[in-house]
Amino acid sequence: MRVAIIGASGLVGGNCLQVFSRKGWPCLGTHFGFATEQTVYYNTLEPDHAQNPDWDSFAPEVIVNCGALTHVDHCEQHPDESFEKTVQSNRNILKLARKYGARVVYISTDYVFDGENGPYTEDAPQNPLSVYGLHKQTAERETLESGLQALVLRITNVYGDEIRGKNFVARLLNQLNEGRAPELVLPADQYATPVNAADLAQALYLLLKDGKTGVYHIASTDWLNRVQLALKVLSFFPEMPYTLRAMRTADMQQPAKRPLFGGLIAHKFLSEYPEFRFSGVDMYLLSKI
Ligand SMILES: NC(=O)c1ccc[n+]([C@@H]2O[C@H](COP(=O)([O-])OP(=O)(O)OC[C@H]3O[C@@H](n4cnc5c(N)ncnc54)[C@H](OP(=O)(O)O)[C@@H]3O)[C@@H](O)[C@H]2O)c1
Repeated sequence: MRVAIIGASGLVGGNCLQVFSRKGWPCLGTHFGFATEQTVYYNTLEPDHAQNPDWDSFAPEVIVNCGALTHVDHCEQHPDESFEKTVQSNRNILKLARKYGARVVYISTDYVFDGENGPYTEDAPQNPLSVYGLHKQTAERETLESGLQALVLRITNVYGDEIRGKNFVARLLNQLNEGRAPELVLPADQYATPVNAADLAQALYLLLKDGKTGVYHIASTDWLNRVQLALKVLSFFPEMPYTLRAMRTADMQQPAKRPLFGGLIAHKFLSEYPEFRFSGVDMYLLSKI
């Protein structure tokens, strides 16, 4: 299966590129601003850019859209840019998919929910609180209504190996491994279900292999707030000093509202793949120290 992975220089796309390539699928992974050895340039917002891939020669059978503007507060303060980089970008990818009759995968988030009573199943009522959440909701709906064979994966709090090591867990691990004492200020009331990007890529591989469509929540059974997640990482470095100030989200004055009781329930996925095991944060940390 020829798979184009848009945003393969990032956390989710990079792990999809690794897993799908290992499974023997011919992959074309793209970057935008951060070139890597495994990716080629592609700007979703300029479909005719001279440096874009030669799509005719690759002729994708599946396009996985992992590209987005993911900085939630920036999206809140720059809604037009957020629309362009999430909704318009995805529209251009849907157009590309239509040209090749390709299946599409859209990577979405628990921010489509309001966090009143998570973790959430796929059919829970949506009510995004932020511009980011609203634009992700629009892009996932347009993907599902595109008439193409479409899959939407909702995820949250992704961690794991990535070239830039920029996810929360990787950054904290990096700091601790280098012997730098962390000084953390974190919300203690935002709960989510952290998931390892490698597990997520493996789950997506299975869904694609089996031709699944529709919405799937991908999550482990960890349901943690940021303080608990940080303490988990810190517990693997008992000698390391640190400071940690736990805050209420309401006191943090972040531009974008956050779902507080967020997170996702992967019951649908696990009922179709009962042998699948999500690894959990502890297992990832054990492999890293
Ligand atoms: N990480 C999480 O915790 C999380 C949670 C929920 C949902 N998600 C969703 O999962 C998806 C992937 O997130 P991620 O964490 O992997 O993000 P990421 O690491 O920031 O990667 C985003 C990717 O998109 C590419 N990109 C950005 N603008 C582009 C454009 N105009 N044209 C082409 N490519 C472009 C980036 O390229 P360069 O870096 O090369 O510029 C990068 O490869 C996003 O849709 C995000 O909303 C992530």
